[in-house]
Amino acid sequence: MEDGNTKGSDIFKNIRMGVGTWAWGDRLYWGYGREYHDDDLKNAFLVSVQGGIRFFDTAEVYGQGQSESLLGNFLREFDGEFVVASKFMPFPWRLRKSSLLRALRKSLGRLGLEQLDLYQTHMPIPPITVEAWMDAMAEAYQAGLIRAVGVCNYNREQLHRAYESLARQGVPLASCQVEYSLLNREIEQNGIKQTCEELGISIIAYSPLAQGLLSGKYTPEQPPRGIRGRQKNRNYLEQIKPLITEMRRIGADNAGKPPVQVALNWLIARGAIPIPGAKNEEQALQNSETLAWSLSEEEIMKLDHVSAQLIRSDSKK
Ligand SMILES: NC(=O)c1ccc[n+]([C@@H]2O[C@H](COP(=O)([O-])OP(=O)(O)OC[C@H]3O[C@@H](n4cnc5c(N)ncnc54)[C@H](OP(=O)(O)O)[C@@H]3O)[C@@H](O)[C@H]2O)c1
Repeated sequence: MEDGNTKGSDIFKNIRMGVGTWAWGDRLYWGYGREYHDDDLKNAFLVSVQGGIRFFDTAEVYGQGQSESLLGNFLREFDGEFVVASKFMPFPWRLRKSSLLRALRKSLGRLGLEQLDLYQTHMPIPPITVEAWMDAMAEAYQAGLIRAVGVCNYNREQLHRAYESLARQGVPLASCQVEYSLLNREIEQNGIKQTCEELGISIIAYSPLAQGLLSGKYTPEQPPRGIRGRQKNRNYLEQIKPLITEMRRIGADNAGKPPVQVALNWLIARGAIPIPGAKNEEQALQNSETLAWSLSEEEIMKLDHVSAQLIRSDSKK
């Protein structure tokens, strides 16, 4: 069911990268209020904008609304064009389509916007069907409350159902947000990448730095603190060393670029839009400078090879 009117969306025209704001207001997982504060986030926002980033991704559940409120405050103080994306969480107790419209209005209120550029379902959660939520999305689109519709974490079948359900109402499916990085290339195997390319759906890559691991700053001796440290054990940090070494080598060959820029440039070369999280000015600056250079074909192939070897050896365990 492909149709010229429903294929793709122009909201990502000229957008190669964004900023993810899960950590903005999130205490439990990311340590907001302890390791970094509102001033750090405001500086991260300003530096990103100065670096040419216009796309910001948030969600109603990040910091229980605080991420949207902080982003809204920063946007209000800044004159310019932005692409703002948020997400609806289809909690199992949300049983009516009207709950999406209600949640959307609350998100718009926190963001201080009349229209959202992209509204996404955060993940597929039963019992409400993909089709029912896409009907509600189409209603929001037709009411002018959103400029485009996206989905996150859908499998191939759900992605097709969302696309077709929206297409029946003349609404394009603009994006599919999924985990994608040099340490997680599942979408290349499970058909999501191919489906997106065929249907003209933009791929938004979340956790593009594997939650900080691809910065190279964490080692078996110095794992991340908190929940992340428990998830990613020391063996895993040992295993990824060959990839980090290759990223450092490629960075060094490109006038000393840091591993994060190698990781983000690899995703851009693979046709995805990465949305790295940034907690402070320094991280935001380093991430936004990714846009100033690109990898050669040879470097992309080398990274493909080293990361594929790692992923293969990981899956054998
Ligand atoms: N749709 C979904 O289900 C879903 C799920 C997850 C994420 N997301 C979205 O994707 C965004 C990004 O994903 P993510 O936050 O999970 O992971 P990420 O972008 O891979 O990693 C972000 C973390 O890496 C570290 N970092 C960032 N830039 C750095 C730099 N230049 N140098 C060193 N360390 C750096 C920071 O943490 P430390 O300094 O503490 O290491 C930062 O919080 C989220 O903010 C959110 O918008 C969506």
